This record gives sequence, structure tokens and C-alpha cells, in this order.
Amino acid sequence: MITIRLMREEDADAVREVDAIAFWAWEREVKGEEAQLYLRTRTNILVCREKDPEGCFVVEEGDRVIGFIFSRTWGGVGWFGTFAVMPEYQGYGIGKRLIAASLKYLRQDPDRVIGLETMPGSPYNLGLYLRQSFQTRFPTFLLSKVLKQPAAGHVDLPRWSQAEAKTRERWLAELREATGQVLPGLDYSKEITSTARHGLGETLVLTNGPRAVGMSTVWLVSGWERWGEKRANVQALALHPGYTDEDAFRTLLEATEALAHIHDKRIVTTAVNARHAWALERLLKWGYRVERIAVHMVLNGTDGGPCTDNCVDLSRWAG
Ligand SMILES: CC(C)(COP(=O)(O)OP(=O)(O)OC[C@H]1O[C@@H](n2cnc3c(N)ncnc32)[C@H](O)[C@@H]1OP(=O)(O)O)[C@@H](O)C(=O)NCCC(=O)NCCS
Repeated sequence: MITIRLMREEDADAVREVDAIAFWAWEREVKGEEAQLYLRTRTNILVCREKDPEGCFVVEEGDRVIGFIFSRTWGGVGWFGTFAVMPEYQGYGIGKRLIAASLKYLRQDPDRVIGLETMPGSPYNLGLYLRQSFQTRFPTFLLSKVLKQPAAGHVDLPRWSQAEAKTRERWLAELREATGQVLPGLDYSKEITSTARHGLGETLVLTNGPRAVGMSTVWLVSGWERWGEKRANVQALALHPGYTDEDAFRTLLEATEALAHIHDKRIVTTAVNARHAWALERLLKWGYRVERIAVHMVLNGTDGGPCTDNCVDLSRWAG
């Protein structure tokens, strides 16, 4: 008897086990014996769930968790991931039931752009999503830069951790207004507050006068056990389009790299969708290299179709 229910805190260990086994099985198909098993940290699972507790589900057979899905809402943008079913239960429609549960949650805002990102090397996933009415858009590039020497920038940007409650409240409103100019309703507030609450990293704020016009939320703690300790990972970096130029983008990025360096990180990683063509071009010019690529998909009818822009909005639709 297979049932779907909301994920609970006490499911964290079962969920990370299913995650590790399902992705390991997939990697084995691609890489053979070289495939490694990566376990997420317990904190990573709890943090992902906490951001949208009403949109995260597990599938059980009896009382054994055999699959799960996380949903994430950023105001007017929503996506699902990570998402997995135990290998021996795959191909029986369980994944489709989990997607349906997530979409019901994400569709609560009828104007929301809904999407996902997946691996280009999985015809199975691509077929599944295409049949569920997702369409491909420009790909998302996962980029990294090795910090060879102290970064040129200084961390002289205001930091979330050092701001007073009133300033934080104002920043959140101003940053919401800034990201809303990139994509209607886009709101990274929960990434900022959750990163701070769990001590996962820092948010740097770019100001124009007193006004917050840009942000970089960077994780200095890995979401994986025994992997990625030397990496700082940009969760979201965005600029108000009215204040976007090379200087502003570079300042935010170099401050992020300097912060990573201070925390003894060797590599900074970030993600950018090719839709933001100007930002992608700058990142490559400034020493970032393509590490991986993800297929970016949007639920048919929830966006205006493929287009490019000059905006700075670095994030990925995957947890
Ligand atoms: C992705 C995953 C969660 C899907 O779960 P699942 O229970 O196997 O999926 P379902 O059985 O509900 O659906 C599979 C669908 O894909 C379709 N499909 C598979 N390969 C396909 C292909 N090459 N072309 C077209 N459709 C294809 C199947 O036909 C089926 O649809 P149908 O029932 O309408 O025919 C699971 O396979 C998994 O855990 N994979 C490893 C981890 C992973 O990749 N997670 C997702 C990362 S984005």
C-alpha cells in the first residue's frame, strides 16, 4: 500500500538515504563503478523542508519512506527538487504522483512561474518532465572559480549578520522590489533569512545611498557530508536592473570572493541561466569556468516563453 503525505522533521534521515541511493544508482548507469555515494547533511534536508513545509512530501510503503519531493517558492517563482524514488520502485508512476502533489502546492499562486532543473544526461527524467507539460528553456550553467590568491575585492559591503533588525526589514523590502524587476514577484527573502538562522553563510548587500539594490547570499557550509568543504556556494546573487552595470556586478562578486577567501574556501561556485546572457558573459570574462550544465524547464503556460535579458540573477532551480 503506497501513500503520500507531508514530509516531517523526523523523516530527515530516511529522505537523505533515499536521495543518496537513488542518485548513486543513476550515477552508476552513467559512470559505472566510479560512481560515488553522496549523503546530504541532516541540516540540509531540514533547511530545504523548512522553506516550504506545505510543499514537501514523502511516499511510504507501509512505514518505509521510498520517495520524496521538495518544493520551493520564491514569491512569483516556484520549482521542485530535489526529488527521488528508490530504484526498485521507479517506473511505476510514483514520481508522477509526487510531481502532482508538488504542482498542486506551487499552483496556489496562479501567476507563479513554475519550473525545475535536471541533468541533461538523463533521457528518463527529460521524457518524464516533457510528458508532464514542461518545456525546455535556455540551460543553466554551473560555474566555478578557483581563488588562487586573495581576491581583489574587500568585504566592505554591508553584511546581513551585522545589521540591526530594522535595517534588515528595510533591506528585505528593497531587495524584493529589486528582484521583482528581474522577474515579477521574484523574492529571495527566505534564502537570506534561512542562511542566517542556520549559520550556513552570509548575505552581502550592495547599497546605493541607503537603499539596498543588490545582494549575494553565499553558503560557507557544505550541504553534503565529506564533500565540498573548500567550496563557497552562491545561493542567490541579484541586482536591481536600474542599478546594473559592470562596476556594481563586479563589486558584489569580488566581495563574495573575498568573503569566501577569508573563510578559507578555495573555490566559489555559482549558477546562471543563459537567459541572463550579459551576466553569463561577464562571469566567463572574470575567470569563472563551466563545471556542469542543467536543463532548465518551465511548466507550459506559466511564463512568457524563451527570451534573453541583461539582468543579473544568479541562482538555480534545484536544491
Ligand atoms: C526521476 C524519478 C524521481 C522519477 O520517478 P519514477 O517513479 O521512476 O517516475 P514515474 O514512474 O512516475 O514516471 C516515469 C515516466 O517517464 C517516462 N519516460 C521514461 N523514459 C522516457 C523517455 N526516454 N522518453 C519519454 N518518456 C520517458 C515514462 O514513460 C513514465 O511516464 P508514463 O508513465 O506516462 O509512461 C526517479 O526515476 C529517480 O529517483 N531517479 C533518480 C534521481 C533523479 O534523477 N531525480 C530527479 C532529478 S531532477
